[in-house]
Amino acid sequence: MDVGNSFIEELDSLRREALAALLTVEDAAALEAVRIEYLGRNGRMVSVMSRLGALPKEERPEAGQQANRVKNEIQQGFQARLEEFSRPAASTEAQWDPSLPGRSRPLGALHPIRQVADRITEILSRMGFAVADGPDIETVENNFDALNTPADHPSRDPLDTFYLPEGTLLRTQTSPVQIRTMLAHRPPVRIIAPGRCYRRDTPDATHSATFHQVEGLYVDHDVSMADLKGTIAQLARELMGPRVQIRFRPHFFPFTEPSVECDFSCTVCGGTGCRVCKYSGWLEIAGAGMVDPRVFQKVGYDPEEFTGFAFGMGIERIAMILHGIDDIRLLYENDARFIDQFRMRFHENLH
Ligand code: PHE
Repeated sequence: MDVGNSFIEELDSLRREALAALLTVEDAAALEAVRIEYLGRNGRMVSVMSRLGALPKEERPEAGQQANRVKNEIQQGFQARLEEFSRPAASTEAQWDPSLPGRSRPLGALHPIRQVADRITEILSRMGFAVADGPDIETVENNFDALNTPADHPSRDPLDTFYLPEGTLLRTQTSPVQIRTMLAHRPPVRIIAPGRCYRRDTPDATHSATFHQVEGLYVDHDVSMADLKGTIAQLARELMGPRVQIRFRPHFFPFTEPSVECDFSCTVCGGTGCRVCKYSGWLEIAGAGMVDPRVFQKVGYDPEEFTGFAFGMGIERIAMILHGIDDIRLLYENDARFIDQFRMRFHENLH
């Protein structure tokens, strides 16, 4: 009786352990290991069965039947798990929901200032202007002296200009690129120079200590004010649309004579007056004029032989008008909620 009981008990714990092991396996290889351990030729089932013969004769049939039931049960458990592992495609398919929204992969985009600078560059390039470049850290000579700016000119005030050691400064305008270009090349020269400028302005809705300009310079025989006007008018139409008007108002710059301030008719209100144009119908866009003969002398051009025009326009102002931005500081904060709005406009602006 004792012997039989312990046989049954052993069979029972073998059953429980085997079924538990079958439940915990996570792949086909682990399942096979469990099969070998319990049902294999040298497995635990075989070793328990081998002790059947040692049981008292009258207990053997009953114990044998019990052993077969346990063996079948383990075998069925094994078979069930095996089927599970051989249907991997079916189980992942059940998890794939084709109605889920796709993952968005945000595209990068150019900053609105860069978009406008590129647009202006593209338009003027088609008119034959090459792109020139100069450093942000300039010499006082290139930024002021060579541009015929008198020693007492207000723009030289250290309260307006960031001075650096050894006769250098952060350029207050892109005009020194005119000097660099003329020192390096003989006429004809026809360049534009987009770039960053610096002034000691207290930031507010329309002022920033760093801002961007595009400089233009055209020097050749017989360049006239009419060429300047035609170039600016064409640029205005391509930038703002075919209905835009331009006008020149007399002004003063040390490096041009005569000098003008160039206005575009307000594209926000169509010229009838709004907040953006301060109810004047016009927007101040650029400073311009005919290159002063004294500038030609500084760079070694003969003012009797050559004439030229130059202009400089603020990029931020144009970006703000084109996009209806009412505070220049928004352009420098790099707040993605703001910047992201110009992603689509990039493509619109190109066509
Ligand atoms: N440099 C001038 C400014 O910053 C603009 C300008 C450029 C005027 C070229 C005339 C010619 O205001």
